[in-house]
Amino acid sequence: TAAPSPDTASFLRCLAVDIPPQVVYTNASPSYTSVLESSIKNLLFVTPSTPTPVAIIAAADASHVQSAVRCGARHGVRVRPRSGGHDYEGLSYRSLSAVRPFAVVDLAALRAVRVDAGRRTAWVGSGATLGELYYAIANRSARLGFPGGLGPTVGVGGHLSGGGFGLLLRKHGLAADHVLDAVVVDATGTLLDRATMGEDLFWAIRGGGGGSFGVVLSWKLRLVIVPATVTVFTVHRPRNQSATSLLTKWQRVAPTLPPDVFLRVVLQIQDAQFESLYLGTRAGLVATMTRWFPELGVKPEDCIEMTWIESVLYFAFYGTGKPAELLLDRGTKPERYFKAKSDYVTNPIPSHVWDRTWSWLLRDGAGLLILDPYGGRMGDVSPSATPFPHRRELYNLQYYGFWFKNGTEEAEKHVGWIRGLHREMEPYVSKNPRGAYVNYRDLDLGVNDDGDGGDGVTGYEKARVWGEAYFKGNFERLAAVKAKVDPHDFFRNEQSILPLPSSR
Ligand code: FDA
Repeated sequence: TAAPSPDTASFLRCLAVDIPPQVVYTNASPSYTSVLESSIKNLLFVTPSTPTPVAIIAAADASHVQSAVRCGARHGVRVRPRSGGHDYEGLSYRSLSAVRPFAVVDLAALRAVRVDAGRRTAWVGSGATLGELYYAIANRSARLGFPGGLGPTVGVGGHLSGGGFGLLLRKHGLAADHVLDAVVVDATGTLLDRATMGEDLFWAIRGGGGGSFGVVLSWKLRLVIVPATVTVFTVHRPRNQSATSLLTKWQRVAPTLPPDVFLRVVLQIQDAQFESLYLGTRAGLVATMTRWFPELGVKPEDCIEMTWIESVLYFAFYGTGKPAELLLDRGTKPERYFKAKSDYVTNPIPSHVWDRTWSWLLRDGAGLLILDPYGGRMGDVSPSATPFPHRRELYNLQYYGFWFKNGTEEAEKHVGWIRGLHREMEPYVSKNPRGAYVNYRDLDLGVNDDGDGGDGVTGYEKARVWGEAYFKGNFERLAAVKAKVDPHDFFRNEQSILPLPSSR
Protein backbone atom coordinates (compact mmCIF):
# COMPACT_ATOMS: atom_id res chain seq x y z
CA THR A 1 0.00 0.00 0.00
CA ALA A 2 1.17 3.51 -0.80
CA ALA A 3 1.78 6.05 1.95
CA PRO A 4 -1.29 8.22 2.74
CA SER A 5 -1.23 11.71 1.23
CA PRO A 6 -0.06 14.23 3.77
CA ASP A 7 -2.65 15.66 6.12
CA THR A 8 -0.89 18.17 8.31
CA ALA A 9 -3.92 19.19 10.36
CA SER A 10 -4.70 15.59 11.34
CA PHE A 11 -1.01 15.00 12.07
CA LEU A 12 -0.91 17.94 14.47
CA ARG A 13 -4.17 16.80 16.14
CA CYS A 14 -2.69 13.33 16.53
CA LEU A 15 0.44 14.78 18.18
CA ALA A 16 -1.75 16.78 20.57
CA VAL A 17 -3.43 13.58 21.78
CA ASP A 18 -0.23 11.75 22.67
CA ILE A 19 2.48 14.31 23.32
CA PRO A 20 2.51 17.11 25.94
CA PRO A 21 2.02 20.47 24.19
CA GLN A 22 5.15 21.97 25.75
CA VAL A 23 7.40 19.77 23.60
CA VAL A 24 5.62 20.40 20.28
CA TYR A 25 6.52 23.56 18.37
CA THR A 26 4.60 24.66 15.29
CA ASN A 27 4.87 27.79 13.19
CA ALA A 28 2.39 29.37 15.59
CA SER A 29 4.67 28.85 18.62
CA PRO A 30 6.59 31.98 19.67
CA SER A 31 9.80 29.98 20.16
CA TYR A 32 9.51 27.95 16.92
CA THR A 33 12.38 29.81 15.22
CA SER A 34 14.74 29.66 18.17
CA VAL A 35 14.08 25.93 18.64
CA LEU A 36 14.57 25.31 14.93
CA GLU A 37 17.82 27.25 14.84
CA SER A 38 19.10 25.93 18.18
CA SER A 39 21.45 23.42 16.58
CA ILE A 40 21.71 24.62 12.97
CA LYS A 41 25.39 24.98 12.04
CA ASN A 42 25.19 26.09 8.42
CA LEU A 43 23.79 29.57 7.68
CA LEU A 44 23.06 28.46 4.11
CA PHE A 45 19.89 26.88 5.43
CA VAL A 46 18.66 29.77 7.53
CA THR A 47 16.82 31.71 4.86
CA PRO A 48 13.19 32.80 4.47
CA SER A 49 12.81 30.44 1.49
CA THR A 50 14.17 27.29 3.17
CA PRO A 51 11.30 24.81 3.60
CA THR A 52 10.97 24.22 7.34
CA PRO A 53 9.14 21.58 9.40
CA VAL A 54 5.42 21.82 10.17
CA ALA A 55 6.31 20.78 13.70
CA ILE A 56 9.35 20.20 15.83
CA ILE A 57 8.87 17.56 18.50
CA ALA A 58 11.52 18.24 21.14
CA ALA A 59 11.33 14.73 22.53
CA ALA A 60 11.85 14.41 26.26
CA ASP A 61 10.97 10.73 26.35
CA ALA A 62 11.10 7.72 24.01
CA SER A 63 7.30 7.67 23.90
CA HIS A 64 7.28 11.13 22.25
CA VAL A 65 9.38 9.79 19.40
CA GLN A 66 7.16 6.72 19.07
CA SER A 67 4.00 8.86 18.95
CA ALA A 68 5.51 11.29 16.43
CA VAL A 69 6.42 8.39 14.12
CA ARG A 70 3.00 6.73 14.50
CA CYS A 71 1.14 10.01 13.87
CA GLY A 72 3.40 10.75 10.91
CA ALA A 73 2.93 7.31 9.35
CA ARG A 74 -0.85 7.50 9.84
CA HIS A 75 -1.22 10.98 8.32
CA GLY A 76 1.50 10.95 5.68
CA VAL A 77 3.88 13.42 7.33
CA ARG A 78 7.45 12.17 7.32
CA VAL A 79 9.68 12.65 10.33
CA ARG A 80 13.35 13.59 10.19
CA PRO A 81 15.48 12.83 13.24
CA ARG A 82 17.83 15.55 14.45
CA SER A 83 20.52 14.95 17.04
CA GLY A 84 23.25 17.59 16.77
CA GLY A 85 22.06 19.35 13.59
CA HIS A 86 25.52 19.25 11.96
CA ASP A 87 24.44 17.64 8.70
CA TYR A 88 26.45 19.48 6.02
CA GLU A 89 23.35 19.77 3.83
CA GLY A 90 20.93 20.41 6.69
CA LEU A 91 18.90 17.27 5.97
CA SER A 92 17.92 16.87 9.62
CA TYR A 93 15.84 20.06 9.62
CA ARG A 94 15.19 21.24 6.07
CA SER A 95 13.78 19.73 2.92
CA LEU A 96 14.33 20.63 -0.71
CA SER A 97 10.60 20.29 -1.30
CA ALA A 98 8.49 23.36 -0.78
CA VAL A 99 5.26 21.35 -1.01
CA ARG A 100 5.71 18.16 0.96
CA PRO A 101 5.29 18.72 4.72
CA PHE A 102 7.65 17.09 7.18
CA ALA A 103 8.31 17.19 10.91
CA VAL A 104 11.50 17.10 12.95
CA VAL A 105 12.01 14.91 15.99
CA ASP A 106 14.69 16.77 17.89
CA LEU A 107 16.63 14.55 20.27
CA ALA A 108 18.78 17.22 21.95
CA ALA A 109 17.09 16.60 25.31
CA LEU A 110 17.77 12.85 25.14
CA ARG A 111 21.43 13.24 25.95
CA ALA A 112 22.18 11.32 29.13
CA VAL A 113 25.61 9.66 29.27
CA ARG A 114 26.00 6.72 31.69
CA VAL A 115 29.56 5.45 31.92
CA ASP A 116 30.33 2.03 33.41
CA ALA A 117 34.07 2.39 33.90
CA GLY A 118 34.44 -1.14 35.29
CA ARG A 119 32.94 -2.74 32.19
CA ARG A 120 34.43 -0.07 29.89
CA THR A 121 31.05 0.70 28.36
CA ALA A 122 28.73 3.69 28.17
CA TRP A 123 25.10 4.26 27.20
CA VAL A 124 24.74 7.59 25.46
CA GLY A 125 21.63 9.37 24.21
CA SER A 126 21.69 10.39 20.54
CA GLY A 127 21.14 14.02 21.55
CA ALA A 128 24.43 14.19 23.44
CA THR A 129 27.31 15.93 21.70
CA LEU A 130 30.72 14.33 21.23
CA GLY A 131 32.06 16.88 23.72
CA GLU A 132 29.53 15.79 26.35
CA LEU A 133 30.41 12.15 25.73
CA TYR A 134 34.18 12.71 26.00
CA TYR A 135 33.74 14.88 29.10
CA ALA A 136 31.59 12.25 30.86
CA ILE A 137 34.06 9.48 30.04
CA ALA A 138 37.08 11.47 31.25
CA ASN A 139 35.21 12.41 34.41
CA ARG A 140 34.85 8.73 35.31
CA SER A 141 38.30 7.56 34.28
CA ALA A 142 41.44 9.21 32.98
CA ARG A 143 42.34 5.93 31.26
CA LEU A 144 39.25 5.60 29.07
CA GLY A 145 38.39 7.35 25.82
CA PHE A 146 36.28 7.00 22.69
CA PRO A 147 37.40 7.07 19.03
CA GLY A 148 35.01 9.69 17.61
CA GLY A 149 35.33 12.95 15.68
CA LEU A 150 37.03 16.21 16.58
CA GLY A 151 34.11 18.65 16.61
CA PRO A 152 32.78 18.77 20.20
CA THR A 153 29.35 20.07 19.17
CA VAL A 154 28.72 17.24 16.67
CA GLY A 155 25.72 15.10 17.68
CA VAL A 156 26.30 11.50 18.69
CA GLY A 157 23.20 10.38 16.75
CA GLY A 158 24.20 11.52 13.27
CA HIS A 159 27.90 10.88 13.84
CA LEU A 160 27.53 7.19 14.74
CA SER A 161 24.91 6.76 12.00
CA GLY A 162 27.51 7.71 9.38
CA GLY A 163 30.57 5.94 10.85
CA GLY A 164 32.47 8.73 12.60
CA PHE A 165 36.20 9.14 12.79
CA GLY A 166 38.80 11.18 14.60
CA LEU A 167 42.33 11.06 15.92
CA LEU A 168 42.03 7.56 17.42
CA LEU A 169 41.01 6.06 14.06
CA ARG A 170 44.33 4.42 13.27
CA LYS A 171 44.45 2.72 16.67
CA HIS A 172 40.77 1.91 17.14
CA GLY A 173 38.85 2.36 13.88
CA LEU A 174 35.53 4.16 13.50
CA ALA A 175 33.22 5.34 16.25
CA ALA A 176 30.53 3.04 14.83
CA ASP A 177 32.86 0.04 15.19
CA HIS A 178 32.43 0.40 18.94
CA VAL A 179 28.63 0.22 19.12
CA LEU A 180 27.51 -2.79 21.17
CA ASP A 181 23.77 -2.17 21.31
CA ALA A 182 21.25 0.52 20.39
CA VAL A 183 17.65 1.51 21.07
CA VAL A 184 15.71 2.42 17.93
CA VAL A 185 12.20 3.55 17.08
CA ASP A 186 11.27 1.89 13.78
CA ALA A 187 8.83 3.02 11.07
CA THR A 188 5.89 1.52 12.97
CA GLY A 189 6.79 3.39 16.15
CA THR A 190 8.05 0.23 17.87
CA LEU A 191 10.95 0.42 20.29
CA LEU A 192 13.68 -2.10 19.48
CA ASP A 193 17.06 -3.05 20.89
CA ARG A 194 19.80 -5.15 19.32
CA ALA A 195 18.13 -8.42 20.28
CA THR A 196 14.73 -7.43 18.88
CA MET A 197 15.87 -5.47 15.80
CA GLY A 198 18.01 -8.30 14.45
CA GLU A 199 21.52 -8.17 13.08
CA ASP A 200 20.60 -6.71 9.66
CA LEU A 201 19.15 -3.51 11.05
CA PHE A 202 21.88 -3.39 13.68
CA TRP A 203 24.43 -3.59 10.85
CA ALA A 204 22.70 -0.82 8.85
CA ILE A 205 22.47 1.75 11.65
CA ARG A 206 26.23 1.58 12.31
CA GLY A 207 27.37 3.62 9.33
CA GLY A 208 24.56 3.42 6.74
CA GLY A 209 23.88 7.14 7.16
CA GLY A 210 21.31 8.87 9.35
CA GLY A 211 17.64 9.30 8.55
CA SER A 212 16.98 6.08 6.61
CA PHE A 213 16.15 3.26 8.99
CA GLY A 214 14.57 4.66 12.13
CA VAL A 215 15.28 7.01 14.99
CA VAL A 216 18.13 5.77 17.16
CA LEU A 217 17.49 6.98 20.69
CA SER A 218 20.59 5.68 22.43
CA TRP A 219 23.74 3.68 21.90
CA LYS A 220 25.76 1.33 24.06
CA LEU A 221 29.44 1.94 23.36
CA ARG A 222 32.60 0.02 24.06
CA LEU A 223 35.15 2.48 25.43
CA VAL A 224 38.84 2.22 24.64
CA ILE A 225 41.86 2.40 26.91
CA VAL A 226 44.01 5.50 26.51
CA PRO A 227 47.44 5.97 28.09
CA ALA A 228 47.90 8.34 31.05
CA THR A 229 50.07 10.55 28.81
CA VAL A 230 49.53 11.39 25.16
CA THR A 231 51.58 13.82 23.07
CA VAL A 232 50.52 16.33 20.42
CA PHE A 233 52.23 18.64 17.99
CA THR A 234 51.26 21.15 15.33
CA VAL A 235 54.02 22.21 12.93
CA HIS A 236 53.72 24.49 9.93
CA ARG A 237 55.66 23.96 6.71
CA PRO A 238 55.16 26.73 4.16
CA ARG A 239 54.97 25.99 0.45
CA ASN A 240 58.30 27.65 -0.23
CA GLN A 241 60.01 25.47 2.39
CA SER A 242 59.52 21.89 1.27
CA ALA A 243 55.76 21.55 1.90
CA THR A 244 55.19 19.91 -1.48
CA SER A 245 57.78 17.18 -1.03
CA LEU A 246 56.70 16.63 2.58
CA LEU A 247 53.11 16.28 1.47
CA THR A 248 54.06 13.88 -1.28
CA LYS A 249 55.96 11.73 1.18
CA TRP A 250 53.28 12.08 3.87
CA GLN A 251 50.87 10.17 1.64
CA ARG A 252 53.01 7.04 1.93
CA VAL A 253 54.17 7.50 5.50
CA ALA A 254 51.05 8.56 7.44
CA PRO A 255 48.90 5.50 6.57
CA THR A 256 51.74 3.09 7.42
CA LEU A 257 53.00 4.63 10.67
CA PRO A 258 52.50 2.56 13.86
CA PRO A 259 48.81 2.84 14.84
CA ASP A 260 49.71 4.83 17.96
CA VAL A 261 50.44 7.86 15.75
CA PHE A 262 47.87 9.91 13.88
CA LEU A 263 49.40 12.55 11.61
CA ARG A 264 46.98 14.65 9.57
CA VAL A 265 47.57 17.65 7.31
CA VAL A 266 45.53 20.79 6.81
CA LEU A 267 46.37 22.86 3.74
CA GLN A 268 45.39 26.51 3.68
CA ILE A 269 46.70 29.43 1.64
CA GLN A 270 50.39 28.45 1.19
CA ASP A 271 50.85 26.47 4.36
CA ALA A 272 50.80 22.78 5.28
CA GLN A 273 49.87 22.32 8.91
CA PHE A 274 50.91 18.89 10.20
CA GLU A 275 48.98 17.89 13.32
CA SER A 276 49.66 14.80 15.35
CA LEU A 277 48.29 12.84 18.29
CA TYR A 278 50.52 10.13 19.71
CA LEU A 279 49.37 7.60 22.29
CA GLY A 280 52.49 7.83 24.44
CA THR A 281 55.17 10.18 25.65
CA ARG A 282 57.13 12.96 23.93
CA ALA A 283 60.22 10.78 23.69
CA GLY A 284 58.21 8.07 21.92
CA LEU A 285 56.72 10.52 19.42
CA VAL A 286 60.03 12.15 18.60
CA ALA A 287 61.65 8.73 18.14
CA THR A 288 58.82 7.57 15.88
CA MET A 289 58.94 10.68 13.71
CA THR A 290 62.74 10.54 13.50
CA ARG A 291 62.56 6.95 12.35
CA TRP A 292 59.69 7.20 9.85
CA PHE A 293 59.52 10.80 8.73
CA PRO A 294 62.80 12.59 9.57
CA GLU A 295 62.21 15.13 6.76
CA LEU A 296 59.37 16.67 8.76
CA GLY A 297 61.97 17.75 11.33
CA VAL A 298 59.82 17.41 14.45
CA LYS A 299 61.75 18.48 17.52
CA PRO A 300 61.10 17.69 21.22
CA GLU A 301 60.12 21.33 21.80
CA ASP A 302 57.32 20.99 19.21
CA CYS A 303 55.71 18.24 21.30
CA ILE A 304 53.39 18.75 24.25
CA GLU A 305 52.52 16.00 26.72
CA MET A 306 49.02 15.98 28.16
CA THR A 307 46.08 13.74 29.08
CA TRP A 308 43.76 12.35 26.41
CA ILE A 309 40.92 14.73 27.36
CA GLU A 310 43.33 17.68 27.15
CA SER A 311 44.23 16.52 23.64
CA VAL A 312 40.53 16.55 22.75
CA LEU A 313 40.40 20.19 23.87
CA TYR A 314 43.67 20.95 22.09
CA PHE A 315 42.38 19.79 18.71
CA ALA A 316 38.92 21.27 19.21
CA PHE A 317 40.09 24.73 20.23
CA TYR A 318 43.74 24.83 19.14
CA GLY A 319 45.47 25.62 22.36
CA THR A 320 46.41 24.35 25.78
CA GLY A 321 45.11 25.26 29.22
CA LYS A 322 41.44 25.46 28.22
CA PRO A 323 38.86 24.27 30.79
CA ALA A 324 37.31 20.87 30.04
CA GLU A 325 33.87 22.48 30.51
CA LEU A 326 34.29 24.07 27.07
CA LEU A 327 33.38 20.63 25.77
CA LEU A 328 29.90 21.10 27.20
CA ASP A 329 29.25 24.27 25.22
CA ARG A 330 26.73 23.28 22.55
CA GLY A 331 26.97 26.62 20.77
CA THR A 332 23.93 28.72 20.02
CA LYS A 333 23.53 30.59 16.76
CA PRO A 334 25.00 29.42 13.46
CA GLU A 335 27.88 31.72 12.55
CA ARG A 336 29.15 30.61 9.13
CA TYR A 337 28.12 29.44 5.70
CA PHE A 338 29.89 26.31 4.52
CA LYS A 339 30.07 23.70 1.80
CA ALA A 340 32.25 20.60 1.75
CA LYS A 341 33.04 17.66 -0.48
CA SER A 342 35.13 14.58 0.10
CA ASP A 343 37.31 12.07 -1.70
CA TYR A 344 39.29 8.98 -0.90
CA VAL A 345 42.85 8.66 -2.13
CA THR A 346 43.96 5.15 -3.09
CA ASN A 347 47.37 5.93 -4.61
CA PRO A 348 49.66 8.82 -3.68
CA ILE A 349 48.97 11.98 -5.68
CA PRO A 350 52.07 13.07 -7.66
CA SER A 351 53.94 16.15 -6.49
CA HIS A 352 53.26 18.11 -9.70
CA VAL A 353 49.54 17.88 -8.87
CA TRP A 354 50.16 19.26 -5.39
CA ASP A 355 52.08 22.08 -7.02
CA ARG A 356 48.99 22.97 -9.01
CA THR A 357 46.84 22.64 -5.90
CA TRP A 358 48.79 25.40 -4.17
CA SER A 359 47.65 27.85 -6.83
CA TRP A 360 44.03 26.81 -6.19
CA LEU A 361 44.58 27.67 -2.53
CA LEU A 362 45.53 31.22 -3.53
CA ARG A 363 42.36 31.88 -5.48
CA ASP A 364 39.61 34.20 -4.38
CA GLY A 365 37.08 32.03 -2.54
CA ALA A 366 39.62 29.36 -1.58
CA GLY A 367 38.89 27.17 1.43
CA LEU A 368 41.03 24.51 2.99
CA LEU A 369 41.89 20.86 2.49
CA ILE A 370 41.97 18.35 5.32
CA LEU A 371 43.86 15.09 4.80
CA ASP A 372 43.06 12.38 7.38
CA PRO A 373 45.21 9.23 7.11
CA TYR A 374 43.72 5.75 7.43
CA GLY A 375 45.67 2.48 7.77
CA GLY A 376 46.36 0.88 11.15
CA ARG A 377 43.22 -0.68 12.62
CA MET A 378 41.16 0.31 9.56
CA GLY A 379 43.04 -2.22 7.46
CA ASP A 380 42.10 -5.04 9.85
CA VAL A 381 38.36 -4.58 9.39
CA SER A 382 36.52 -6.05 6.41
CA PRO A 383 34.89 -3.40 4.16
CA SER A 384 31.57 -5.23 4.61
CA ALA A 385 31.76 -5.55 8.41
CA THR A 386 29.79 -2.30 8.64
CA PRO A 387 28.23 -0.18 5.85
CA PHE A 388 31.34 2.06 5.80
CA PRO A 389 33.41 0.60 2.93
CA HIS A 390 36.49 2.85 2.70
CA ARG A 391 38.71 0.74 4.93
CA ARG A 392 41.61 0.27 2.57
CA GLU A 393 42.17 3.82 1.37
CA LEU A 394 45.32 5.80 2.11
CA TYR A 395 43.44 8.83 3.33
CA ASN A 396 40.29 10.90 3.32
CA LEU A 397 40.52 14.24 1.56
CA GLN A 398 38.01 16.88 2.59
CA TYR A 399 37.49 20.09 0.63
CA TYR A 400 35.99 22.65 2.97
CA GLY A 401 34.89 26.14 2.07
CA PHE A 402 33.44 28.63 4.52
CA TRP A 403 32.42 32.27 4.47
CA PHE A 404 30.65 34.79 6.62
CA LYS A 405 29.01 37.25 4.22
CA ASN A 406 25.51 36.69 2.94
CA GLY A 407 24.78 36.84 -0.78
CA THR A 408 24.63 34.68 -3.87
CA GLU A 409 27.83 36.05 -5.36
CA GLU A 410 29.81 35.22 -2.24
CA ALA A 411 28.30 31.73 -2.02
CA GLU A 412 28.98 31.04 -5.71
CA LYS A 413 32.60 32.08 -5.31
CA HIS A 414 33.24 29.60 -2.49
CA VAL A 415 31.08 26.77 -3.76
CA GLY A 416 32.56 27.27 -7.23
CA TRP A 417 36.05 26.91 -5.79
CA ILE A 418 35.17 23.64 -4.08
CA ARG A 419 33.46 22.18 -7.13
CA GLY A 420 36.27 23.28 -9.44
CA LEU A 421 39.05 21.76 -7.36
CA HIS A 422 37.03 18.60 -6.79
CA ARG A 423 36.57 18.28 -10.57
CA GLU A 424 40.26 18.79 -11.17
CA MET A 425 41.24 16.10 -8.64
CA GLU A 426 39.15 13.40 -10.30
CA PRO A 427 42.03 11.60 -12.08
CA TYR A 428 43.99 11.29 -8.83
CA VAL A 429 41.42 9.91 -6.39
CA SER A 430 39.44 6.69 -5.90
CA LYS A 431 37.51 5.42 -8.93
CA ASN A 432 34.66 3.18 -10.00
CA PRO A 433 33.03 4.57 -8.06
CA ARG A 434 34.69 7.74 -6.85
CA GLY A 435 34.22 7.45 -3.09
CA ALA A 436 32.81 9.97 -0.62
CA TYR A 437 32.14 9.96 3.13
CA VAL A 438 28.46 9.99 4.03
CA ASN A 439 29.04 12.11 7.15
CA TYR A 440 30.39 14.82 4.82
CA ARG A 441 27.02 14.87 3.09
CA ASP A 442 27.13 16.31 -0.43
CA LEU A 443 23.95 16.75 -2.46
CA ASP A 444 26.01 17.45 -5.60
CA LEU A 445 26.28 13.65 -5.82
CA GLY A 446 22.55 13.44 -6.50
CA VAL A 447 19.19 13.51 -4.75
CA ASN A 448 16.06 11.38 -4.41
CA ASP A 449 13.06 12.78 -6.22
CA ASP A 450 10.47 14.59 -4.19
CA GLY A 451 8.33 11.46 -4.44
CA ASP A 452 5.85 9.63 -2.28
CA GLY A 453 8.06 6.60 -1.90
CA GLY A 454 6.92 4.83 -5.09
CA ASP A 455 10.29 5.20 -6.80
CA GLY A 456 10.73 1.59 -7.88
CA VAL A 457 13.63 0.57 -10.05
CA THR A 458 14.25 4.03 -11.59
CA GLY A 459 14.59 5.76 -8.24
CA TYR A 460 16.81 2.97 -6.96
CA GLU A 461 19.12 3.13 -9.97
CA LYS A 462 19.41 6.88 -9.54
CA ALA A 463 20.19 6.51 -5.85
CA ARG A 464 22.95 4.02 -6.62
CA VAL A 465 25.07 6.89 -7.94
CA TRP A 466 25.58 8.52 -4.57
CA GLY A 467 24.75 5.37 -2.63
CA GLU A 468 27.72 3.52 -4.10
CA ALA A 469 29.98 6.56 -3.68
CA TYR A 470 29.20 6.45 0.04
CA PHE A 471 28.77 2.69 0.53
CA LYS A 472 30.22 0.89 -2.52
CA GLY A 473 29.25 -2.82 -2.47
CA ASN A 474 27.34 -2.35 0.80
CA PHE A 475 24.70 -0.16 -0.85
CA GLU A 476 22.54 -3.02 -2.08
CA ARG A 477 22.50 -4.67 1.34
CA LEU A 478 21.45 -1.35 2.88
CA ALA A 479 18.58 -1.15 0.37
CA ALA A 480 17.58 -4.73 1.20
CA VAL A 481 17.52 -3.89 4.93
CA LYS A 482 15.47 -0.79 4.13
CA ALA A 483 12.94 -2.88 2.16
CA LYS A 484 12.58 -5.13 5.19
CA VAL A 485 12.32 -2.55 7.97
CA ASP A 486 10.73 0.44 6.21
CA PRO A 487 9.05 -0.84 3.02
CA HIS A 488 6.85 2.28 2.71
CA ASP A 489 9.88 4.54 2.87
CA PHE A 490 8.64 6.57 5.83
CA PHE A 491 12.15 7.66 6.79
CA ARG A 492 13.09 9.51 3.68
CA ASN A 493 15.24 12.47 2.81
CA GLU A 494 17.06 13.72 -0.27
CA GLN A 495 19.75 11.07 0.11
CA SER A 496 18.13 8.38 2.20
CA ILE A 497 18.44 4.71 1.24
CA LEU A 498 15.46 3.58 -0.88
CA PRO A 499 13.89 0.12 -0.45
CA LEU A 500 15.45 -2.45 -2.80
CA PRO A 501 12.88 -3.01 -5.57
CA SER A 502 11.52 -6.56 -5.40
CA SER A 503 12.42 -7.16 -9.06
CA ARG A 504 16.12 -6.97 -8.24
P1 FDA B 1 22.18 15.87 12.34
O1 FDA B 1 21.30 15.91 13.55
O2 FDA B 1 22.11 17.02 11.41
O3 FDA B 1 21.97 14.50 11.62
C1 FDA B 1 22.67 14.07 10.49
C2 FDA B 1 21.85 13.04 9.72
O4 FDA B 1 21.56 11.92 10.55
C3 FDA B 1 20.49 13.55 9.26
O5 FDA B 1 20.11 12.86 8.08
C4 FDA B 1 19.57 13.12 10.39
O6 FDA B 1 18.21 13.01 10.00
C5 FDA B 1 20.17 11.80 10.80
N1 FDA B 1 20.03 11.54 12.23
C6 FDA B 1 20.35 12.38 13.24
N2 FDA B 1 20.12 11.80 14.41
C7 FDA B 1 19.66 10.55 14.15
C8 FDA B 1 19.23 9.48 14.98
N3 FDA B 1 19.26 9.60 16.30
N4 FDA B 1 18.79 8.34 14.40
C9 FDA B 1 18.77 8.24 13.05
N5 FDA B 1 19.15 9.22 12.21
C10 FDA B 1 19.60 10.37 12.77
N6 FDA B 1 32.67 13.80 11.12
C11 FDA B 1 33.68 12.94 11.45
O7 FDA B 1 33.60 11.75 11.14
N7 FDA B 1 34.76 13.40 12.14
C12 FDA B 1 34.88 14.68 12.55
O8 FDA B 1 35.88 15.05 13.16
C13 FDA B 1 33.83 15.59 12.24
N8 FDA B 1 33.88 16.90 12.64
C14 FDA B 1 32.86 17.76 12.30
C15 FDA B 1 32.91 19.10 12.72
C16 FDA B 1 31.88 19.98 12.37
C17 FDA B 1 31.95 21.42 12.82
C18 FDA B 1 30.79 19.52 11.58
C19 FDA B 1 29.70 20.46 11.14
C20 FDA B 1 30.73 18.19 11.19
C21 FDA B 1 31.75 17.30 11.54
N9 FDA B 1 31.71 15.96 11.16
C22 FDA B 1 32.73 15.11 11.50
C23 FDA B 1 30.57 15.44 10.39
C24 FDA B 1 29.53 14.83 11.32
O9 FDA B 1 29.97 13.56 11.76
C25 FDA B 1 28.19 14.66 10.57
O10 FDA B 1 27.75 15.89 10.11
C26 FDA B 1 27.14 14.01 11.48
O11 FDA B 1 26.17 13.38 10.69
C27 FDA B 1 26.50 15.02 12.38
O12 FDA B 1 25.66 14.42 13.31
P2 FDA B 1 24.55 15.33 14.02
O13 FDA B 1 23.76 14.46 14.92
O14 FDA B 1 25.18 16.55 14.59
O15 FDA B 1 23.74 15.81 12.76
